[in-house]
Amino acid sequence: MFPYKTSFSLQRDQGPSLYLQLSNQFITLIKNRTLPPKTKLPSSRNLAMLLGVHRKTVVACYDELLLQGWVESIPKKGTYVHADLPILHQQEYLLDDKEFCSSSANFTFKKEALLERKTFNTEKDWTVVDDGISDVRLTPLEEIARTYRRLAGKKSTLEALTYGPTHGNSKLRKALAEYLNTTRGLHISEEQILITRGSQMGIFLASRLLLTEHSNVIVGNTNYIAADVTIKEQKANLVRVTVDENGLNTQEIEEVCKRKKITAVFVTSHHHHPTTVTLSAERRIHLLNLAKEYQFAIIEDDYDYDFNYNHAPILPLASHDTHGNVIYIGSICKTVAPVFRIGYLVAPKDFVDQAAKTRRYIDRQGDALLELTFADFIKTGDLDRHIKKILKAYKIRRDLFCKLLKEELGDAFSFQLPKGGMAVWVALNKKYSWDIVCENARKFKLEIGDWRRYDMENSGHNAIRIGFASMNEDEIRRFVDRLKKAFIRMQSQEKS
Ligand SMILES: Cc1ncc(COP(=O)(O)O)c(C=O)c1O
Repeated sequence: MFPYKTSFSLQRDQGPSLYLQLSNQFITLIKNRTLPPKTKLPSSRNLAMLLGVHRKTVVACYDELLLQGWVESIPKKGTYVHADLPILHQQEYLLDDKEFCSSSANFTFKKEALLERKTFNTEKDWTVVDDGISDVRLTPLEEIARTYRRLAGKKSTLEALTYGPTHGNSKLRKALAEYLNTTRGLHISEEQILITRGSQMGIFLASRLLLTEHSNVIVGNTNYIAADVTIKEQKANLVRVTVDENGLNTQEIEEVCKRKKITAVFVTSHHHHPTTVTLSAERRIHLLNLAKEYQFAIIEDDYDYDFNYNHAPILPLASHDTHGNVIYIGSICKTVAPVFRIGYLVAPKDFVDQAAKTRRYIDRQGDALLELTFADFIKTGDLDRHIKKILKAYKIRRDLFCKLLKEELGDAFSFQLPKGGMAVWVALNKKYSWDIVCENARKFKLEIGDWRRYDMENSGHNAIRIGFASMNEDEIRRFVDRLKKAFIRMQSQEKS
């Protein structure tokens, strides 16, 4: 008889349940023909005794194998390895294992060069610079999980499990409309909201609906690179205007509008990405007036509205939009955690309805159960409480980061204390090169990443974004310490 007793290895205290471990190991034995087709399996009672497990475990295992089609049950005879296993026939066509694992497709497809990204070291004891993301350790995961579980157990939630509205769950749309009206001074109803899977989906949908190869889109020099790429993907032309300490230069925008037809302006008004400056009140009014006069869309990406350390946030352009020019985009991905793919696109209803239709090309709908969870999270005030908590932590981090960077590396870098956001725009003294700084930093396990992505036009600003929010105070100290060591090494090499 087949040595069943020694052929299985079951972990009783860890891993999946025993019956699944057993059935997975049976499948391996069947697949590699150790148990060939038509082999009779022992009775559940005998196998249970041999393996020292409960008979119910073996019964559940056989049921699983039966369900998956690996075995068949022949009345009054017993359980047999299936005589006709499709997977075994399939293997006959394979010449060797290598063919099965081919890493390149045997057909042509489009390669998206715009989306190429360099890969960097992300080992555990390395400090990896990000360009302004939240500290996921502060995510209120327990509360979110509890709400999710509670809602999942409710009978009324059943309807959220099937296909629903592409616009998003109506409870979240309602809760968000109220929330955005209260916190951002908008004047919208739920009909003007499309729930997206994060801001990026909003930027893509807006670009897709607005742009053709004949469109001109005004962006800053320099601009959020993913927006540039998304706009270029629609074959539209990027027209760059200067960004100074007051944000996008709207005078330049006006001059461009006089010369050519502009379809849209992309703006991160609250904290310009990447430089973190705020679009001044005067320029906001100017931009809205230009949009009204020249009938272009303003794509307002308000990715970090919640993060202000010195003053109340300045209301978005969307709050003053009386003519239907602004497409307002935001998400909870920065505020709660990037893993929760919930964002919103707010615009006139006709545009929202079309965006919902267009979304269907790639995504039939969002995750309604998660959307319900966040509707609850907003209504109960949990989101507000969470924001207050992280704001306190991030302000301390911003202050420490800027203080240490100034004290320890003030000669090498210049920067302004950002009023908000999660990153500092740090310019390297022109006598140094980022390439050499990055190379030396790696010697001390510090990964700075692709600094060139902030200078697509070769304007020579020599600055990058460094995120402070995701590092705790010890990590900030370690970051500055490693960077300082890199400079000391660099300078000693220059001398020798
Ligand atoms: C300026 C800006 N807009 C949009 C996004 C995309 O955010 P989401 O995760 O909500 O898609 C990011 C993410 O880094 C960002 O920095």
